[in-house]
Amino acid sequence: MEFQKAKQPLRGTIRVPGDKSISHRAVMFGAISKGTTEVTNFLQGADCLSTISCFQKMGIEIENSPEHILIHGKGLHGLSAPDSLLDCGNSGTTTRLISGILAGQPFSSELTGDASIKSRPMGRIITPLSQMGADITSLQGNNCAPLRINGKPLHGIHYNSPVASAQVKSCVLLAGLYADTPTSVTEPALSRNHTELMLKYFGANITSCNKTAAVEPDPVLTGSQIFVPGDISSAAYFIAAALMVPGSEILLQNVGINPTRDGMLRVCKAFGADIELLNVSTSGGEPVADLLVRYTPSLKGTVIEGELIPTLIDEIPVIAVLAATAQGTTVIRNAEELKVKESNRLDVMVKGLSAMGVCVEGTDDGMIIQGGQELKGAVIDSMLDHRIAMSFAIASLAASGTTEILRAECVDISYPQFYSDLAKLQT
Ligand code: S3P
Repeated sequence: MEFQKAKQPLRGTIRVPGDKSISHRAVMFGAISKGTTEVTNFLQGADCLSTISCFQKMGIEIENSPEHILIHGKGLHGLSAPDSLLDCGNSGTTTRLISGILAGQPFSSELTGDASIKSRPMGRIITPLSQMGADITSLQGNNCAPLRINGKPLHGIHYNSPVASAQVKSCVLLAGLYADTPTSVTEPALSRNHTELMLKYFGANITSCNKTAAVEPDPVLTGSQIFVPGDISSAAYFIAAALMVPGSEILLQNVGINPTRDGMLRVCKAFGADIELLNVSTSGGEPVADLLVRYTPSLKGTVIEGELIPTLIDEIPVIAVLAATAQGTTVIRNAEELKVKESNRLDVMVKGLSAMGVCVEGTDDGMIIQGGQELKGAVIDSMLDHRIAMSFAIASLAASGTTEILRAECVDISYPQFYSDLAKLQT
């Protein structure tokens, strides 16, 4: 797919699709709750559809229509043994969170996925689940999917996670629902807390204090209504675009601004960006706002590190693009987790930005970007990573000549209408 430098400012109002993390959890928690869960603004991206199909294979009726999805939950102990492989597609969230649920079931199951999923680290969930008494094996013996899980009675543990990962934390907490005693997880830095908020909303006894979350076993979860806020990780592309393209002014409505997810906004502030939060409110325990974003001519590089990293982990590729158009140097540190996402996002961003003429140096745990140079169009392979494709589509708006993105259709994973929404803001 080919892209050209922006010929006019971005203008208009848009609603980005529902949050991916929250959409996954709404299906999962709805499935193990009693009664019907109605989810509006559900993300109809390939990842969340993988989650739906896994639960359908375990006997859960899920009605999917454009207005809402209805999950007819069967309670904590109502899942049935799947009669075929559970295919998690490209989705790490599906794979890791479902593993927590499957570990305590009275049946066996196998999880698989695409080539990317089969190369992502699952040792990070195998270790704590095994400590809880689970029988979970990597079938190739490489700590990756496919995974075989023979359900077993589980014991509660306290887990000191070596990584700030909401997928690891959620996996352990979900297994904790099926354990005999309470389970808690402490992380090195706080990762997104949607599991904690939503499980509580469904009736679980779950508490959070600083970097520790703890859950009581065997709750009665009750089907609920969930309105999924717009995904800040999707909004991030248009935030960056509007800040970069002269004359732009856009309104992004109803975006989730949970403080465990809003690092992009904090970095934009440090860059000196003109972003206003309007109509701040709460929806289903999740804070939301409309974001008014205006072109800001003199963005200034900054340092992005430490506890900020988990709050913007998926936005780092597009933040790197923004940094390339800012003045001065941006340093990103402590972001080694990016190496084990859908692609090695540190490598892929460094190579792609270099191809566009940006002076960027990859480091062990991040990158150093010298901003303020003219970007030039290049051929960029998305590596089938949705966030890479979208980040370079945004970079192309500031680049001379033509940018060609290979395998650009992978945006279907998290934002199927991305290219048409981008075009809408340019007309
Ligand atoms: C997610 C957590 C993050 C994030 C991913 C979604 C989630 O992964 O990168 O896109 O929904 O819990 P990690 O938990 O591996 O950091």
